Amino acid sequence: MDCCCFVVTAQVDSAVGEKEVGDMKKRVSIVEGDITKQKVDAIVNAANNSLLGGGGVDGAIHRAAGSELLEETRQMGGCPTGEARVSKGYRLPARWVIHTAGPIWAGGHKNEDNLLAGCYRNCLKMAVEHGAKTIAFPSISTGAYRFPLERATEIAMGETGKFLENDNILKKVVFVCFGERVLKAYQDAFEKIL
Ligand code: APR
Repeated sequence: MDCCCFVVTAQVDSAVGEKEVGDMKKRVSIVEGDITKQKVDAIVNAANNSLLGGGGVDGAIHRAAGSELLEETRQMGGCPTGEARVSKGYRLPARWVIHTAGPIWAGGHKNEDNLLAGCYRNCLKMAVEHGAKTIAFPSISTGAYRFPLERATEIAMGETGKFLENDNILKKVVFVCFGERVLKAYQDAFEKIL
């Protein structure tokens, strides 16, 4: 009897486990494209500590949102590395922009991994606090800030997986990749970690 129950339980447990992981995998997608065009509730901006705009994805988001975005972020008094601040999306399809300042890569001995993990954790938390159901991330810190791409994608996937395990509000987390190389790195991290 025990043997039979054990087998049934084991099958059910593994099925439930697979179902949960499967559901979580369904809540994450990886696309190639321009984050300013994403039709999601919130997009994340890979900003700098000043929140006064810049190049890369920061520049693209400010250009697409219009000058009101800078007027709002100018009032925020900056953003420490690893933290996040929220603004309206203005002319963007997204209702919110969550600005985060990623770490500048300095060889990996200046707490860069934890600071980057904090960017993802704090942006996800802030999105849920503002009622967002869908959020899109760029590849934070892997451009001008020179964070190694594969290392960054594994941190992004790991933090997202941990967050989604304990959250049932967010319906979709989209990683928006600029170019084939970034897309492949995210796809590999998705398979490896989620
Ligand atoms: N959509 C999606 N991804 C984009 C876009 C876009 N429109 N534009 C650039 N990217 C990608 C880059 O190709 C890179 O993969 O975003 C990733 C992050 O690169 P950066 O924008 O350089 O951001 P980061 O490395 O975090 O450096 C931040 O650069 O732009 C300045 O003001 C910003 O000082 C800050 C620093």
